[in-house]
Amino acid sequence: MKAGRSALLLILILVALALAACSGRPGPMGPAGEPGPQGPPGPSGPAGAAGERGPAGQDGVSYEPPQFVGSQVCAECHQDYYDRFIQSGHPWIMNPVVDGQAPNIPGGNVTEPPEGLTWDDISYVIGGYNWKALFVNQDGYLVTGETAQFNLDSPTLELGEGWTAFHTGEEIPYDCGSCHTTGYSAQDNQDNMPGMVGTFVQPGVQCEACHGAGSLHVNNPRAYSPRVVRAAPECRSCHMTSEVVAGNGFIQHTDLHYGDLFPGKHVLIDCVQCHDPHSGVVAPREAREPYLRATCAGCHYEAALVQKPVHDRIRVDCVDCHMPEMIQVAQGDPESFKADLPTHQVVINPTQIGQFAEDGTVLPQIGLDYACRQCHNGAQGIGPSLPDDVLLSVAQNFHGPLEEAAPAAETAAP
Ligand code: HEC
Ligand code: HEC
Ligand code: HEC
Ligand code: HEC
Ligand code: HEC
Ligand code: HEC
Ligand code: HEC
Ligand code: HEC
Repeated sequence: MKAGRSALLLILILVALALAACSGRPGPMGPAGEPGPQGPPGPSGPAGAAGERGPAGQDGVSYEPPQFVGSQVCAECHQDYYDRFIQSGHPWIMNPVVDGQAPNIPGGNVTEPPEGLTWDDISYVIGGYNWKALFVNQDGYLVTGETAQFNLDSPTLELGEGWTAFHTGEEIPYDCGSCHTTGYSAQDNQDNMPGMVGTFVQPGVQCEACHGAGSLHVNNPRAYSPRVVRAAPECRSCHMTSEVVAGNGFIQHTDLHYGDLFPGKHVLIDCVQCHDPHSGVVAPREAREPYLRATCAGCHYEAALVQKPVHDRIRVDCVDCHMPEMIQVAQGDPESFKADLPTHQVVINPTQIGQFAEDGTVLPQIGLDYACRQCHNGAQGIGPSLPDDVLLSVAQNFHGPLEEAAPAAETAAP
């Protein structure tokens, strides 16, 4: 027992000694630890003095879009084109009234403003070249009322000229610039006239409406060629909208909604194969000069060779039957099946008399009322009045081989 206690005492002494040894002098310093994360940046100091000016840079690329220069400028080098163009309808669709004077439209048909107004009240005369004239007031709205549209005398109808109503009591903005002007933009209002929708560079369909802004070409004709587009959709963008509206026994040209049965099978050929876009139809026709580049017979020589022998004593032209005036721009006379714009749908359906379906819509091909009865109507027509069955029997196979020629089919067989 005594030995156990001495052993315990000895251990305690040894422990005390060991502890006394630990609280001795400090050992040498260990190696430096890893650096801590960077602290936040301090406040920036004051700006230094400006440096030396650097060397000049290279010139940048500059682009100026071509500008519209006006048809008169084109005339300086293309006088022959201009002389024909200025007699045609395109430049005369929108005519400014300057100094209170009637505009000088070829034909000189429009001499008076609508009743109750003076020329000072009018900013533009719309049309007045071939079919009718409308008038725009100084606020840019179309003049409306009982005597607001002036119809020109139509050479095919001979109904005389005169005033008629145009949307009496309505306020109609002139939003027609996309087809009647050059350099048109639908934004803003021309000359700040509230009724005139959009702006334009020149009124009328000028050279640059079809050929594009011309300043680059004018300054350097051989380096820059203007755009030249012969395809029919170019012309159709202004000339035909898809909707065909019927009324008064005709297809109606109701300004924004003008359709034709066009183009029938002639969708295959371009307008400029028949028309010179610079001279148009009206001016050469009135001057009794040729107005078509191609004749019907030039392409359809077989049809031209054979026609049923009913018109031997008078000449009936291809267009008399195939392009009757069944569209009304200004005037139309339902009794004689004649209005003032020819259809470009040339296909005649020889089994169809009327032109309108029961719901009033226009049938897609020309019926015999229009193909034949502008002459054979018994009233003003130059031909004898003929009943339906006679027309039907003659129209069918009109250009077919004549009966006398029938045996040829047998001999032709091998
Ligand atoms: C300074 C004289 C001059 C003026 C002004 C001028 N042209 Fe020309 N134009 C020419 C010449 C020269 C050519 C023939 C270029 C060639 O053969 O390469 C030409 C060719 C054209 C062509 C045919 C391009 C082709 O691809 O075949 C058209 C279209 C045309 N000009 C339209 C216009 C219109 C539109 C204007 C007015 C905006 C106009 N020109 C103004 C001299 C002019
Ligand atoms: C989609 C194009 C287009 C728009 C839009 C248009 N027109 Fe026309 N306008 C024509 C064409 C093309 C003619 C020539 C007749 C034809 O071929 O149909 C014409 C002819 C006319 C004529 C007869 C010109 C003459 O010399 O006898 C008058 C008047 C007219 N338009 C008034 C208007 C008015 C008013 C508006 C707007 C409310 C308008 N048009 C909108 C394309 C258009
Ligand atoms: C209605 C659209 C239209 C207008 C307006 C118009 N042109 Fe053209 N022009 C054409 C088309 C389409 C052609 C393509 C050739 C053709 O069928 O006559 C053309 C051809 C030409 C050419 C000959 C290019 C060639 O390669 O044969 C010249 C030059 C020209 N026009 C100048 C003018 C000038 C100048 C004006 C104004 C005075 C003008 N045009 C007005 C549509 C137009
Ligand atoms: C197959 C030939 C031919 C083609 C293609 C043709 N036309 Fe015509 N166009 C005519 C004939 C023929 C007339 C009637 C002339 C007449 O009655 O004296 C005419 C008349 C017109 C008129 C009416 C002028 C008037 O007062 O009689 C306009 C506008 C017109 N054509 C525009 C066009 C447009 C736009 C195109 C193309 C989308 C086109 N034509 C394609 C042959 C053609
Ligand atoms: C920017 C619209 C526009 C374009 C594009 C256009 N026309 Fe016209 N065209 C008109 C308007 C508007 C009239 C009525 C002019 C008037 O009565 O004063 C017209 C009238 C006509 C006429 C009858 C007047 C005359 O002088 O005989 C013919 C034919 C004609 N255009 C053919 C064409 C052909 C072909 C093309 C394509 C090469 C064409 N047009 C492109 C707007 C256009
Ligand atoms: C540049 C050539 C050309 C000219 C000019 C031309 N046509 Fe056509 N015509 C065609 C083509 C192409 C077709 C469609 C193919 C076909 O049916 O033969 C066609 C189709 C027709 C059709 C329908 C034929 C059918 O089988 O249903 C008639 C009708 C027609 N033309 C009449 C005329 C009249 C009328 C004229 C004169 C105003 C005329 N053409 C001028 C090329 C022409
Ligand atoms: C441009 C006017 C005109 C058009 C369009 C016209 N004709 Fe004629 N037609 C006449 C004239 C005029 C006569 C009388 C000729 C004579 O006395 O020799 C005639 C005579 C006839 C005759 C003989 C009548 C008789 O009693 O001897 C028949 C049949 C005829 N036409 C059928 C048609 C048919 C069918 C159409 C349409 C597909 C048509 N015509 C289109 C002017 C026209
Ligand atoms: C008296 C009216 C009249 C005259 C004039 C006339 N045609 Fe026709 N044409 C018709 C009729 C009707 C048809 C329909 C025949 C059918 O489908 O059986 C027709 C059909 C056509 C066809 C369709 C194909 C065919 O041979 O049947 C073409 C192409 C044609 N005519 C071209 C012409 C040309 C080109 C001229 C002028 C040289 C002309 N027509 C003069 C009444 C006429």
